[in-house]
Amino acid sequence: MCGIIAAVAQRDVVGWLLAGLARLEYRGYDSAGLAIVDSQGKLQRIRRVGKVQTLTAAVQQAGLQGHCGMAHTRWATHGPLTEVNAHPHLSQSIAVVHNGIIENHQILRGQLQQRGYRFTSATDSEVIAHLVHWEQQQHLAQQAEGGGSTAPLKLRTAVQRVIPQLQGSYGIVVLDSQDPTCLVAVRCGSPLVIGCSETAHCIASDQFALPAVMRQVIFLQEGDLAEITDQQLTLWDHRGQPVVRPWVEAAVEEHLSKGAYQHYMQKELYEQPSAIRRTLAGRLTADRIDLSELGERAEHCLQQAQHVQIVACGTAYHAGLVARYWFEAVAKIPCDVEIASEFRYRQPMVRQNSLLIVLSQSGETADTLAALRLSQSMGYLGSLALCNNAGSTLVRESDFSLITHAGREIGVASTKAFTTQLVLLLLLVARLGRLRGMTLQQEQAVVVALHTLPERMEQLLQLDKAVEALATQLVPDRHMMFVGRGVHYPVAMEGALKLKELAYLPAEAYAAGELKHGPLALIDAQMPVIVLAPCDELSEKLQSNIEELCARGGRLYLLADERLAIMEHPALTWIALPAMEPLMSPILYTVPLQLLAYYIALMKGADIDQPRHLAKSVTVE
Ligand code: G6P
Repeated sequence: MCGIIAAVAQRDVVGWLLAGLARLEYRGYDSAGLAIVDSQGKLQRIRRVGKVQTLTAAVQQAGLQGHCGMAHTRWATHGPLTEVNAHPHLSQSIAVVHNGIIENHQILRGQLQQRGYRFTSATDSEVIAHLVHWEQQQHLAQQAEGGGSTAPLKLRTAVQRVIPQLQGSYGIVVLDSQDPTCLVAVRCGSPLVIGCSETAHCIASDQFALPAVMRQVIFLQEGDLAEITDQQLTLWDHRGQPVVRPWVEAAVEEHLSKGAYQHYMQKELYEQPSAIRRTLAGRLTADRIDLSELGERAEHCLQQAQHVQIVACGTAYHAGLVARYWFEAVAKIPCDVEIASEFRYRQPMVRQNSLLIVLSQSGETADTLAALRLSQSMGYLGSLALCNNAGSTLVRESDFSLITHAGREIGVASTKAFTTQLVLLLLLVARLGRLRGMTLQQEQAVVVALHTLPERMEQLLQLDKAVEALATQLVPDRHMMFVGRGVHYPVAMEGALKLKELAYLPAEAYAAGELKHGPLALIDAQMPVIVLAPCDELSEKLQSNIEELCARGGRLYLLADERLAIMEHPALTWIALPAMEPLMSPILYTVPLQLLAYYIALMKGADIDQPRHLAKSVTVE
């Protein structure tokens, strides 16, 4: 998703801007640009479609330097991926970078065109630059009419006048090359964070984009407007009142390298055993689950809860779907799961004593955040964020939170964030279960299974070569079907999503029992079907589904528990998975599906860490 880094300093900031862009790359983008006020006070801008590296080369070749500038990675929403649509957008001396969407941009564009502005891009963002410029011009015209001096309008005041005209969600940074001593930023739905050193201030959409020297940061609150100079930071809240926000210690950036791996995704996939150990650390004694970190108020909420509502997007939504089976079967509490973009506009009815769980890797997903905010006036018992980013907006705005501690996930396609979410959800399920009549022995069974999970996962990762061989067989195929039953149905959905994201292949997931209601019509030798076949109470039912598929000429690839007696059939290939505890099975069956998507994408030569058109952190709705 779009990324912003901007700086004003007593030194050249181009290096900071380019390094910041490189650190924003993981979010997913399609073009990048930079604008800087040079030593002559001229606004210089360079934009490029494609990688930050291409922009960096162009900026270095041009020898750009300056003390005040901004840079941006764009993830196209309005207008195709072209250089003219890349940010920053200019209007004379004004330059703007924007994350988010301006919903009334068409109307504003029309009005600005009538005032004589000529648009060079198809974006919604360009209106902001022209509006700021227009406000400055209006001010000068009014002053001239009054016969007074023609002092220019402060950039901050011009931006303040523009804000009420904008509808939508945005994080913006604005500069005016006529006064390169300051930058102005506004947060309205899209996160922004400010970092400082003794002689500089930076603004970014992600704290990791800030220069490493900036150890103190301020997260802007909704509606905040900030003005920064090299030495000063001034903030106003959404009512325009001066406000002070706390400086907090910046999160320590992990050393981010692929190590011996070819891709971040591959590394993250292999990190799952250690990521799960981190999720469990301090939360699992030899025989008990300890979530006392939640505090008394949350514990009280859990005691009162009679319903759980999970809201999430993408992979996190699939984790929620898996957890629904657990909440109902293990904790005996009704649970609903919904995609955030649907939940927020559906006018949902709230069950009595319902606990809202918002699930998110980044904690910045716009739809999930909007759902959380909406829920705050809906009568939920409380909101609990399960998130991988402790400093995120979702965590800050929820009543309670639990952090997955998966470590930073760079690959756009989520891997370790998903499996650690499942682990955290299972801990919560067991805690809620204990409050609702689950016995100590049952809790201990979960504890024992979780203790062995990291090693089990290591075992599953040893299937790497077998899955790679399977991928070789599947790589010529043009579409694929994933099938599972019960708690493995959402795992099949996650497998299909991974394949879509990484290999750009149409892939659909079905509950095996639903095949006869339509999808069977798709079955022929050209439609490979990946079947998840664990050893559980549904094994026999699944066996019948497998026979139905074979009888219709299907080509089947089973990921099957080694204990199952799999029928011999020429169209049936299978990989044996070790016996495992049923509660761990959805977590572990995920691994070969991640590997499968990874290898098919690799063999197709796709961009694994930054799949086309996708973003890691989706900060627009
Ligand atoms: C994007 C990512 C997905 C992710 C989804 C939700 O679409 O590409 O991998 O699952 O957002 O993100 P979240 O950060 O809320 O888990």
